[in-house]
Amino acid sequence: MDLGSIPSEGTRNILVFNIGKNMFSFIILITILLLLLFLLFFIVAQFYSIIFKGFAPFISSGEEVLHKVISEINAQEKTVFELGCGRAGFLRSLRKKYPKARLIGVELLSFPYLVAQIQNSLSKSGIEIRKEDIFKTDISKADIIYCYLNVDTMRKLEPKFKTECKKGAQIVSFQFKLPSVKPERTIELDEGKNKVYFYTIK
Ligand SMILES: C[S@@+](CC[C@H](N)C(=O)[O-])C[C@H]1O[C@@H](n2cnc3c(N)ncnc32)[C@H](O)[C@@H]1O
Repeated sequence: MDLGSIPSEGTRNILVFNIGKNMFSFIILITILLLLLFLLFFIVAQFYSIIFKGFAPFISSGEEVLHKVISEINAQEKTVFELGCGRAGFLRSLRKKYPKARLIGVELLSFPYLVAQIQNSLSKSGIEIRKEDIFKTDISKADIIYCYLNVDTMRKLEPKFKTECKKGAQIVSFQFKLPSVKPERTIELDEGKNKVYFYTIK
């Protein structure tokens, strides 16, 4: 019997250790590659939507804006929409003050939608997140609508608000005005650099 060809227990342990180490490195590498691929997909989808569909980019309203807007509205037992909700930060902040309000976020892009769903589940905030185009979503039951979009999207939304919103519904838009309706109220933040426009559907 050729005992020389049978590895000793020590050699076997080293072999097993090396295989385990290589497997671990391989799994880490695959995970990093998948994350990079996911990030690349997100960036490409964002640029495609911004350039070809005129979407507002995935930027969140700052904490100061959220606090200010929330202090200015009364959402007690109301139905509140966040159109283009991204991570739905506005609705999650609103939930802390209004546990009984019906909160609905609408987001079409997969990545922010997924993030909103995960954060919603983790915080058990009970916010409904719709993966939908804001131009197709039913806003007839909205009492309050919060938007942080862009000039072009607000221009296209104006007729939808006028025809679909009920009388008395409030539209709150951070930074971007409705082009042909005079805001009822405008709040300035950061020494006038940022503005929030308030409208009521007549
Ligand atoms: C500037 S971000 C605002 C995010 C969030 N509302 C906030 O204030 O933090 C605009 C979001 O609107 C989404 N969006 C833009 N156009 C949309 C459309 N037609 N339908 C659904 N979502 C849209 C974008 O994907 C993006 O996440």
